[in-house]
Amino acid sequence: MHDQTQSNLPVARLSCGSVNPELIGHTVTFAGWVNRRRDHGGLIFIDVRDRDGITQVVFDPDDRSGSETTDTSAEPAHVDVRSANAYLAAKDLRNEDVVRIEGIVRERPAGTENAKLLTGAVEVAVTALEVYSRSQTPPFVVANDDEIDESVRLRYRYLDLRRPRMQRNLTIRHKITKAMRDYFDERDFLEIETPVLIKSTPEGARDYLVPSRIHRGSFYALPQSPQLLKQILMVGGLGRYIQIARCFRDEDPRADRQPEFTQLDVEMSFTTEEEVVQLMEGCIAYVWQKALGTTIPQPLPRLTYAEAMATYGIDKPDLRFGLPLCDVKEHFAGSEFALFRALSTDAKARVIAIRYPGGAALSRRDFDGLTETAKTFGAKGLVWIGLGADGTKSSIQRFLTDELTAALRASCNAEIGDAILLVGDTAHDASAVAGKLRLEIGERCGLRDPARFAFCWVMGFPLFEADPETGVPMPSHHPFTAPAPGQEALLENDPLAMRAQHYDLVLNGFELGSGSIRIHDESFQRTIFHKLGLSDAQIDNRFGFFMEALKFGAPPHGGMALGLDRVAMLACGETSIRDVIAFPKNQNARDVMMDAPSGVPEQYLRDLGVSFKAAPAITPAPAI
Ligand code: AMO
Repeated sequence: MHDQTQSNLPVARLSCGSVNPELIGHTVTFAGWVNRRRDHGGLIFIDVRDRDGITQVVFDPDDRSGSETTDTSAEPAHVDVRSANAYLAAKDLRNEDVVRIEGIVRERPAGTENAKLLTGAVEVAVTALEVYSRSQTPPFVVANDDEIDESVRLRYRYLDLRRPRMQRNLTIRHKITKAMRDYFDERDFLEIETPVLIKSTPEGARDYLVPSRIHRGSFYALPQSPQLLKQILMVGGLGRYIQIARCFRDEDPRADRQPEFTQLDVEMSFTTEEEVVQLMEGCIAYVWQKALGTTIPQPLPRLTYAEAMATYGIDKPDLRFGLPLCDVKEHFAGSEFALFRALSTDAKARVIAIRYPGGAALSRRDFDGLTETAKTFGAKGLVWIGLGADGTKSSIQRFLTDELTAALRASCNAEIGDAILLVGDTAHDASAVAGKLRLEIGERCGLRDPARFAFCWVMGFPLFEADPETGVPMPSHHPFTAPAPGQEALLENDPLAMRAQHYDLVLNGFELGSGSIRIHDESFQRTIFHKLGLSDAQIDNRFGFFMEALKFGAPPHGGMALGLDRVAMLACGETSIRDVIAFPKNQNARDVMMDAPSGVPEQYLRDLGVSFKAAPAITPAPAI
């Protein structure tokens, strides 16, 4: 192999971003892509770009300083020329051609400096040009971050990856991942890889299945997370584990969800909820400092699940702004407004008021539009009150007394100029709708600044939630989560009242991560599975390996997983995780660059014993 260190290069080899005034007078060489070409009064200017930055180079037809010349027409794909011939070759250069430049660094003429570029005080007078490869005309301009249709960006991802936004995002993502690894390394955690071809590990989604050629008729599942394996690592005495783990869930993609995504997966033996929470919060503060230079004040705020639902109507509240949901049903006890008066005596109902800052300026039509929006959130209707300086207007004007208006204003701290929105329904439905309305108001009022980071913990989740159709308990997190101490007694008669040792980390309204203290007692784990409707045969068939491991001395343990893509998305100020993943699937779960998924040769299917017939009837196992 050619050893660069031995070759005694006459010139300094640089990146495009590192050409600087200290190098004035020096001969340098660097390689990159043609970012832009400009012909000016006989001179040709080219911006050469690589990941590091952009340097302007100048081709001068009168510069005869080079010694060698080559016939540029000889080999159009690979041209290697000096000075005057370099000028001729430069005339043919197009955006995205790949070149190597050799030249002398010089100060830019006064008045032509570019303060926007780190290299903007200098330029390079070209003495030699080598063209490594030519580019077809790209389907979009790579040089800037102009809005481009995402399907085109994903189809030509390699071009999109050259753009400043993706280069920046992937750089930040790298820094985040490195900071995570460093943080846990300093705390004695081992990074351990777990397999990708495994038996199903339930996290609430469908599995991706891989048919086995050697064991015809059998399937591997791709991990929805390394949950059971990291627990078994604790049984295996590894004590403190992390992994930057690839996870696969066959669910419909969304802006914050991909079929294939990455977690920072953590597990610890002999730990407590408090220890995991502090460890992970320290990790976040470290990561934000290292990757963004931003200090995150600690401790992070903590809310109970019940508080989050009551105050924000959601278990992942956006705390960049206030506007809490206010309970006002008692104000309607004697009201003429029959609908809310009826709810005021219904123990299972809520009437919620939310302040809309400046909302009095909305017209009746605007409020009608807002009512339609609320309906898309599941509202049956929306009551609005505009507190204008010239008087109050409302969708329930007839029923609105001065006392009622004053009481509602006081409850939600509304001022003249604001509006009050009211939602009444079952507590569950009213909270859910009001929570979404709160976010809508936050959005409209510009209160959701992507440059602000409002983290919080949500803790004290219920262990189970009722299946909406059958009412049967289902795990709120996953079935391996331990109840809060002292709650086991409720399992028999009131399982839905049980609290879990389960915590979520939330940022700006997104769930960044989830974790829990785990059940380490085999018989209690079995009892939980029974409660979820699994028979012993089903438990042994699906989780036999895990249940067996728990019988051989399992330490108490717990952990957490952060969604790395979501962490990176929010750190980068993006609104889709696709913008922080090099090769994401599109909204239809396709890789449009590779064209995957796609058909395979018939022979592959024969080898696997797979054929497509009418799908057999599937008896669903109980969902857990
Ligand atoms: P959970 O299922 O809550 O917990 O996942 C943890 C975090 O992973 C991220 N995440 C996703 N990101 C992108 N696309 C997806 N489809 C997707 N699904 C999840 C989220 C989420 O908060 N084994 C447990 C963790 C534990 O208990 O230690 C688990 O996977 O940010």
